[in-house]
Amino acid sequence: MKQRTPSSEWLIDALALQIGTQGTTTLVHQLYSALRRWIQHGELAAGSHLPSSRHLAHGLGISRNTVLAAMDRLLAEGLVVSRRGAGMYVANLPTLPAHPKPLLDAAFSYSTRGQALIDRCGTLSQHYQAFAPGVPGLDLFPHAQWQRLLRRHYRQADTAWLSYQTHGGLPALKEALGDYLTLSRAVRCRPKQIVITQGAQQAFELVAQLLTDSGDTVWMEEPGYGGAQTCFLAAGLNIVPVPVDEDGLNPLCCPANTPSPRLIYVTPSHQYPSGVTMPVPRRLALLEHAARHGAWVIEDDYDSEFRYDTPPTPSLQGLSEQASVIYIGTFSKVLYPGLRLGYIVLPEALADTFRLAHARLHREGNYPIQSALAEFIAKGDFSRHIARMRMSYRQRQACLRRALAPATDAGLKLSSGHAGMHLIAELENLNQEARLVELAQQARITLSPLSRYYLKQPQRAGLVLGYAGATEDELLRAGRWLSHAWLNLTSL
Ligand SMILES: Cc1ncc(COP(=O)(O)O)c(C=O)c1O
Repeated sequence: MKQRTPSSEWLIDALALQIGTQGTTTLVHQLYSALRRWIQHGELAAGSHLPSSRHLAHGLGISRNTVLAAMDRLLAEGLVVSRRGAGMYVANLPTLPAHPKPLLDAAFSYSTRGQALIDRCGTLSQHYQAFAPGVPGLDLFPHAQWQRLLRRHYRQADTAWLSYQTHGGLPALKEALGDYLTLSRAVRCRPKQIVITQGAQQAFELVAQLLTDSGDTVWMEEPGYGGAQTCFLAAGLNIVPVPVDEDGLNPLCCPANTPSPRLIYVTPSHQYPSGVTMPVPRRLALLEHAARHGAWVIEDDYDSEFRYDTPPTPSLQGLSEQASVIYIGTFSKVLYPGLRLGYIVLPEALADTFRLAHARLHREGNYPIQSALAEFIAKGDFSRHIARMRMSYRQRQACLRRALAPATDAGLKLSSGHAGMHLIAELENLNQEARLVELAQQARITLSPLSRYYLKQPQRAGLVLGYAGATEDELLRAGRWLSHAWLNLTSL
């Protein structure tokens, strides 16, 4: 249809062809849609006078109210304008290019930051079975009990919880969590210092948003946790990988001439992925370095509950008299990742600002779930669940070691496994690592290469073998496969 100023007759004829043919929509909608389409495509010229509603209704043989309702919609959307005493006119709309350059053409590219982020997505596991690192034993979760608890807390939910919240998490959960962290993790914490987040990842993001500017430096453990690396990268930070030795991140090994850090990210209870625990002298050295540089230390205490030979090591935050450590925890490992609940324990002076900024940036919610979790913790079910998981993970680890025995007897070295949810199998070189990962793919087994956890040139080759999320059967099968594959490869 060419652009035209419609005569009444032409418009009525054209509309008559459009309406009454689509039985499923109302006449108002059909009339409105046809006029909207012609106006938007410029087929009805801007400024054209439209026939009166009475004339249109009569010409189309429909009720005038139907025409008025369609016109009202066009008027409300700004597609037609009404001139007092003169009727309706087609509005003057900006014209869109007839053949716009497609945004998704061959030259399309993500932003530099976006591409860096996408490049790190390859580290996400696709299969949550044997060897997927960081996945808890979901088959051991007390699903029925949790469902009952959730149902009751949803039934009893306070109507105020339906609204926007700015408490930084349900106060009852912050109470229960504060007690738990004080007693079990020696964290110096009062409930008002806690902000509940959607997992540790969101907590890292909030810290990066509020305490750093784009271009600031963050020291990261090398090798280290990809989730935190990605988050800091997305915040535009300059990531300086600092090597991890047998005592964790070594501040003395920071590359020369790097700018002072604004943040130092560590996993001192159980370094991810190497598994080492940072002893007190190194913790004090780290705090001294942080104080000298004016840096915040982020303590990511993601799985410290799973220690098999000794009680969990007390937190770094509890060691520091100064308020320079920001403690971050998650329920992803002790309960389940889909829960998306984590927390930050902040110095008192920062807590209120973080609480409000969190509500502004992310919004908070899901208070019935938080309420159920508060009861789960306060009644001791949480601690009982952790104790049960600890025992099962110890058994799962032993099972994996049994399955790998032919290889370990022949020289394959495994990490100590005193804590955590994975073992590291050391390999001779990166070629061997790449070959095993490739063979595993063919056998439909997920193997995470240790080299993937390095930001710079990997210093060690190995495999990160998650065992917590797999049943003993799965571990036996995958472990035997790996043992066999390693023996074949190393006997060549
Ligand atoms: C070192 C480390 N920190 C934190 C997390 C938990 O992150 P989230 O709470 O976002 O699930 C993980 C999970 O894999 C992890 O490995």
